[in-house]
Amino acid sequence: PRRIIIDTDPGQDDAVAILLALASPELEVLGITAVAGNVPLPLTQKNARIICEIAGRTDIPVFAGCDAPLVRKLVTAEHVHGKTGLDGPALPDPTMPLQDRHAVDFLIETLRTEPEGSVTLCPLGPLTNIATALRRAPDIAPRIREIVLMGGAYFEVGNITPSAEFNIYVDPEAAAIVFGAGVPLVVMPLDVTHKALTSPARVRRFREMGTRPGRMVAEWTDFFERFDREKYGAEGAPLHDPCVIAWLLNPDLFLGRHINVEIETEGRFTTGMTVADWWRVSDRAPNALFMRDLDADGFFDLLAERIARL
Ligand code: BDR
Ligand code: CA
Repeated sequence: PRRIIIDTDPGQDDAVAILLALASPELEVLGITAVAGNVPLPLTQKNARIICEIAGRTDIPVFAGCDAPLVRKLVTAEHVHGKTGLDGPALPDPTMPLQDRHAVDFLIETLRTEPEGSVTLCPLGPLTNIATALRRAPDIAPRIREIVLMGGAYFEVGNITPSAEFNIYVDPEAAAIVFGAGVPLVVMPLDVTHKALTSPARVRRFREMGTRPGRMVAEWTDFFERFDREKYGAEGAPLHDPCVIAWLLNPDLFLGRHINVEIETEGRFTTGMTVADWWRVSDRAPNALFMRDLDADGFFDLLAERIARL
């Protein structure tokens, strides 16, 4: 199986992504590293453990990482995810332990000890942990097989400011380090995640599975949808983060281009923007496979088939 580390700030859509990974035999999750993002770190690390328990995978080590962006004050997204970050179903406190080691130490040590080019990183939140690891241990960069992340937006532009997507906006300095690290990057921006839209028929499949994980996915989605429904009159909500895991399982569901993507860190209105050279009008070298299209039915078929296995 492909060996991955999931770096995350759960978040209902992070939760669905983690369940998808844990349900898939093609993937081996070496660990989950939590970061501050949708909600503060004490909640994201706790939520990560709750999710492992829902999947029956208390063997997965969960690490707490950075509690604030590299230089900025933390911006959170309770307006989307609720006070706990996982609002929706009633969830008991986790009983599985949090690992003692800091997430950044786990990232560095794992990348140094595992065979070169064998570990894929899957960031689903702000890039603070990954950037801190790269800054502290530049020798790990060539050892990373690939970074497949959810973040950014170009045609679909912003969801936290008119020009920026949340994960990049929260820690643009960290994003700039990651996009400049020379590591192969696959990027799932809003352009593609806004095509992974829930609908009553799609959510019904999870509700009717008759399993706890199925019911959790349905109830998280019900909560998560309320934001887009009330604000935009949308029928459903975008399942952003599961796109990262779905790409690892079936890249044919996605279409994108190898292009140059730079992170705006100094804009007056555009801080956190992913400036994507889609038409290759600059002479800057491509550094990312930037996705734009998704086979949404195929995506939901894959997700339902996998969640039903849990
Ligand atoms: C991203 O921000 C978070 O709210 C979601 O979990 C996702 O990772 C979407 O902009
Ligand atoms: Ca997330």
